[in-house]
Amino acid sequence: MEQSVVIGKGKIRSTLKGELYTSPEIFELEKKYIFAESWLFVGYEYEVATPGQYITTKVQDENILITRGKDYVLRAFLNVCRHRGATLCSEPSGKTGVFRCPYHSWSYGLDGSLRGVPKSSDCHEELVNNDTYGLEEVHLQTWHGMIWLNFSENPQPVEQQLDSQIMDRFGELETFARYQIQNLRVAHSKTYDVKANWKIIVENFQECYHCSAIHPELTAALPEFRSGIGTQNQPGLGASFNQDVEAFSISGKGNRPMLKGLLPEDDRLYYGITIVPHVFINLTPDHVITHRIIPINSERSIVICDWLFDPEEMAKPDFEPMDAVELFHRVNEQDFEACQWCQENMRSKAYKNGGILVPIEQHVSKFYDYVLESIGLKVE
Ligand code: FES
Ligand SMILES: [Fe+2]
Repeated sequence: MEQSVVIGKGKIRSTLKGELYTSPEIFELEKKYIFAESWLFVGYEYEVATPGQYITTKVQDENILITRGKDYVLRAFLNVCRHRGATLCSEPSGKTGVFRCPYHSWSYGLDGSLRGVPKSSDCHEELVNNDTYGLEEVHLQTWHGMIWLNFSENPQPVEQQLDSQIMDRFGELETFARYQIQNLRVAHSKTYDVKANWKIIVENFQECYHCSAIHPELTAALPEFRSGIGTQNQPGLGASFNQDVEAFSISGKGNRPMLKGLLPEDDRLYYGITIVPHVFINLTPDHVITHRIIPINSERSIVICDWLFDPEEMAKPDFEPMDAVELFHRVNEQDFEACQWCQENMRSKAYKNGGILVPIEQHVSKFYDYVLESIGLKVE
């Protein structure tokens, strides 16, 4: 695959070819070799804090049930009854002692084992006494209070995938850990339906060349973003707030204390972090924003964005997150509209051989290498 063009004096890398953003076959390869082999972010540990609490979600075409057992172990299962395949649990969240299938009433324990089959089945004893008919388990690990799943047979430890990317971003692990995401709670969440390939959304988050053109509110808060140089690819660097900005909010006002655990040098800084394949984490002094991309098909993705705060602040009667929410909500809308501008032309003859990464965007090519190597296409 040709990945570079000659412009001026130097060789400048081209973007991926248009078909990489439209082809259902490529999308299937990405699902198989990237998403099925990676740890994927699906929720927060506090949502399933006590035995019997559960959440359900959909990942990689699979319905998933996540629950905590009586032994306090957190487990994820395919949310599929082993009898005739009905969705076992349809509620988005709840608490129960047993999962009973709505179709013929097979029931499963919190550990996924088959516990009950109606006696009218004739073979209920054989079924219940046989461990093979329990729910199919999916690998689950937590990382900073976030729940991650992995569909591969023998996944690497979650830290291998995630800590290595924190190291790339900060050069150490302590700064990120100080934000103590495990102690924060979601105060607001928004879901965006984006008509764009997941890679266009990742590429967009990784470059700030577009910031001065489409993000007036963001560049007002973080003036160095006007230069087009984000801080994501400068290890350890955060972007400083504009001098008259008190908080990362649409008004620039705010009087929440810094998150517990932060140091004075963390004040008035914003950090954006990409965790491939599908998560962005944004750190600010008084809240954290997470994005997770859920690829739907080669030309459509769902993005869930959560705004997390200190629960002690959330409990105060005057807690008001929307000033903060509005800032990144506008950034999201601006970004996703731009992603769609591109997606609609990925089938154009003009993009048959891709576009051009200008020097300021060159770091995106690491992401291209990761994608191409993962799906087995040659990188030149
Ligand atoms: S499909 Fe679940 S009990 Fe029949
Ligand atoms: Fe952006």
